[in-house]
Amino acid sequence: MSLQNKQVLLARRPAGALRMDDFTVRTREFSEELASGEILVRNRFVSVDPYQRLLAGGGDTFTQPVSVGEPMPGWAAGEVIASRDPKLFPGDKVVTYLGWQIFGICRGESARKVGLRGLPLAAYLGVAGMPGVTAYLGIFDIGRPKAGETVVVSAASGAVGSAAGQLARMHGCRVVGVAGGGAKCRHIVEDFGFAAAVDYKAGDLSGNLRKNVPEGIDVYFDGVGGTILEAVLPLLNLFARIVLCGHISTYDRPETPGPKGWDFLLSRRVRLEGFIVGDRLDRWLEALGRLERWAAEGKLRYEETIVEGLENAPAALLGLFQGKSLGKLVVAI
Ligand SMILES: NC(=O)c1ccc[n+]([C@@H]2O[C@H](COP(=O)([O-])OP(=O)(O)OC[C@H]3O[C@@H](n4cnc5c(N)ncnc54)[C@H](OP(=O)(O)O)[C@@H]3O)[C@@H](O)[C@H]2O)c1
Repeated sequence: MSLQNKQVLLARRPAGALRMDDFTVRTREFSEELASGEILVRNRFVSVDPYQRLLAGGGDTFTQPVSVGEPMPGWAAGEVIASRDPKLFPGDKVVTYLGWQIFGICRGESARKVGLRGLPLAAYLGVAGMPGVTAYLGIFDIGRPKAGETVVVSAASGAVGSAAGQLARMHGCRVVGVAGGGAKCRHIVEDFGFAAAVDYKAGDLSGNLRKNVPEGIDVYFDGVGGTILEAVLPLLNLFARIVLCGHISTYDRPETPGPKGWDFLLSRRVRLEGFIVGDRLDRWLEALGRLERWAAEGKLRYEETIVEGLENAPAALLGLFQGKSLGKLVVAI
């Protein structure tokens, strides 16, 4: 028997800001023949994440870039519809790396079976998935804030930043978020309990940030790079830590010159550490267990933007770089 599979492919290497014609959608026959140990999955949600711009660009990145003509890789949540893995059964809900397509086949051991303990399936791509783990390990393993310290988080209304800020707050820190626009700033204060928010689109970023961190910055969780990182550097306290998690402001502008103010890293004895969540697989189980529990209990809150239709995944990714989404961005299929 064969199925009709819809896939979103990379049509060409993007240059600068993403365009719709960087992607194409195709439907083709898909054989559901499974080898021993494999599962066939029907995706219900596919994840839209900033790093997919880097994969499409094909440059120096932390993981294998996607080739032109190939389906876009990415996280997906769905259900097993056939299995030759003795541990997985039709109907099981799984998170896989099957990417932007409706059906996919993978090894059973590469899929994570999820129990839906009080959380909807899409949450396993966000707060109880890779972005949540990034926030958890970035805060607790890399930033290591102490209670009472000031933590600044950029991309603070996004999947990683909103969780990172809340985890630091739960740990007893004073957390200030940086986000684009008044609505997102209000949201992180009112809904996520940030102590303050700074709108990086409102002008005088350095002045507004300074006003909101009267005791300086002890930990900066950076998802943006560029001018926000530049505004943070002079405000760092002695022995501050920077969690270099992402630099979304330059993903489609790799020629952007680095921030000014590197001298502060030396004079303030700052520890700056780049980290990739996939390098720390041994820490995922602890993180996922806690994130899932805290989210189900309502202690860790999250927001998501759900776009309908696989063919709309490219537009969703374009919109992510224009700040159109709020919280975790997923496509329902
Ligand atoms: N190191 C790792 O292992 C790892 C893992 C996951 C994610 N990351 C990185 O963490 C960062 C956040 O990821 P995410 O999953 O939370 O993304 P997300 O939920 O898709 O949110 C992206 C955020 O980036 C902000 N943004 C977009 N363009 C911007 C710009 N030019 N300047 C400032 N802010 C901008 C958007 O909000 P505004 O409207 O406020 O601009 C949005 O909140 C990204 O850099 C991502 O690559 C790293």
